[in-house]
Amino acid sequence: MLDTIFFDSRMSDQVRREQLYRGRLFVFSPRPSSIEVCDFARGMINEAFGGRDPRTAQFSMPVEEFVSICAPLKPAFIHHPKTLNLIKNLVAELGCLLCDTYIDVPRLRMVTHGGYLTSGVGYAHHPHRDTWYSAPMCQLNWWLPIYPFEAESAMAFHPRYWEQPIRNGSRSFNYYQWNADGRANAAKHIRSDTRVQPHAEEPLELEPQVRPVCPPGGILLFSAAQLHSTVQNTSGLTRYSLDFRTVNIGDLGARRGAPNIDSGPTGTSLRDFRRADDLAPIPEDLVSGYDNDSPQEGILVFEPPTP
Ligand SMILES: [Fe+2]
Repeated sequence: MLDTIFFDSRMSDQVRREQLYRGRLFVFSPRPSSIEVCDFARGMINEAFGGRDPRTAQFSMPVEEFVSICAPLKPAFIHHPKTLNLIKNLVAELGCLLCDTYIDVPRLRMVTHGGYLTSGVGYAHHPHRDTWYSAPMCQLNWWLPIYPFEAESAMAFHPRYWEQPIRNGSRSFNYYQWNADGRANAAKHIRSDTRVQPHAEEPLELEPQVRPVCPPGGILLFSAAQLHSTVQNTSGLTRYSLDFRTVNIGDLGARRGAPNIDSGPTGTSLRDFRRADDLAPIPEDLVSGYDNDSPQEGILVFEPPTP
């Protein structure tokens, strides 16, 4: 359960994963590799805003202009030849074996103040588990803030739901359909977001909640089965963060991971992952063991548009 937050823990990756699968969180102070990746992302963001402060730019431009700056930034960050190497260095510095660790593409996110942009590229995530979106139960999420931020613009965890199942829409979520519709069209959703996503289908008690706050380059590590949400940003500044996911191949093969208490999507996101050391995909026989769909239509792997 979410009863413990480890700070700068030195435990091995294997023991740490066991703790993560039991609902614990890990927070790490900034270190050379994480500072480097955040500096790199910050440089890209600053450049895109051309001298305006990216954290306050929302107050001096129409939301369409903000989207036109942010939308190309996301694929630019994903596709930049430096990005994956920086992420690789980060997981290595935190003790992951690169030959056992598979990484999904890193993403850049922006959460604006006061509901200026809550859809599409600035989607403010409702309470969800990533496992409702076809993530495997052994997936781990890594999250890093790029600028200083406050509890008023943080990510929140909802500890009671580690053990308590929620009635939710994951059973009608299909990953390949999502690749075909939802992800491809994110930038088109400016005023509202009509993409079909799995939501809780019962009232949630979101208090008490936990909002870890760390400096830029700090790292938050948690299980994909944690119920988490984007706090409604009332900090007065746009929050920028980057995140990525990892899967350990040994755990995947042995079916270790967080307990599945309420996730029932079809399809799997496992084809998005690449081995950290040589970019090899996860062997298809392992993937198919997790694929409860035989896709006739939809897209198995989403290719973000090249900037
Ligand atoms: Fe998430």
